[in-house]
Amino acid sequence: MTAPSWQLWRDRRGRVSLLRIATLILLFLPVAKGLYDAGAIVHGARPLNDVIHRAGFWALVFLGVTLAVTPFRRIARYGGLIDVRRMLGVGAFCYIAAHLLLFVADQSYDLIKVAHEITHRVYLIIGGIAWLGLAVLAATSTDGMVRRLGALRWRRLHQLIYGIALLALIHYFQQTKADVTVPTFAAGLFGWLISYRLLAWWQDTNELSVLSLLGLSVAVSVLTFIGEAVGIGIAFHVSPLRVLETAFDFDVGIRPGWQVLAAGLAVVVLDIVRSRWSSREPRRRPVAAE
Ligand code: HEM
Repeated sequence: MTAPSWQLWRDRRGRVSLLRIATLILLFLPVAKGLYDAGAIVHGARPLNDVIHRAGFWALVFLGVTLAVTPFRRIARYGGLIDVRRMLGVGAFCYIAAHLLLFVADQSYDLIKVAHEITHRVYLIIGGIAWLGLAVLAATSTDGMVRRLGALRWRRLHQLIYGIALLALIHYFQQTKADVTVPTFAAGLFGWLISYRLLAWWQDTNELSVLSLLGLSVAVSVLTFIGEAVGIGIAFHVSPLRVLETAFDFDVGIRPGWQVLAAGLAVVVLDIVRSRWSSREPRRRPVAAE
């Protein structure tokens, strides 16, 4: 029996799926948090702007989670995770649709003003292009569209996700006025996810070795440190080397480079644990990286 497509908690065979239920809960958590914070939001200086920020932030988070499915299901040896990738991607689009709708509401539903703003501010032009890209991917995410486009063309089209993620990160950096720690951490994580695919493609494998994962995590962490130092150096006219010297000064906070390294090492530990405990099938001849 196949379940009607609106019954999101059922898998393709129509069985109730705990993984799908957990994913739905995860996707609704930011809404629940927003409702919980409603009092503070309403009494804040700019309630609509607060909610715009929340929606944009969670869209980016779920975009990252969607991109993490492929590496994570391989590293955690949990192939079933692929079942919720589409749900996560469409969830990210719902948040981004809300992000734009709230922006329209913030402009008092004056669509001429909305169009003027979006076409006259660089960070909104970039966000707008990313928005359109996500809309195309969400619209082509149905089984019917996969059939119509053909698997290869569909896959090529959906590789746009990497460019969209890059534009979304630039938009995030541009609208952040002061502290870029969180955007830098996000950029490091996206960098890890994209580098994972590039390395898997380059090594022509579906499973990176522990050593490759370790090397990847250290390299991306170093690049995050360098990227942050160069960015701060340019923005505040200081030497990037002086910024790098503060990496071990934990009184001013833990730099995003360390956070990215911690996340990467957690993945390495997961890989070691899962390779020990799971009855892994013998390594198959890999197909190209997804
Ligand atoms: C037409 C499309 C878009 C518009 C009009 C738009 C508009 C905005 C506005 C007005 C802000 C707040 C800026 C401020 O307060 O100064 C913002 C922040 C943000 N937007 Fe967008 N955006 C668009 C697309 C996107 C896309 C596609 C993404 C990501 C997938 C995104 C992610 C974010 C993030 C992460 C923030 C910052 C949230 C935070 O502060 O935590 N936006 N956007």
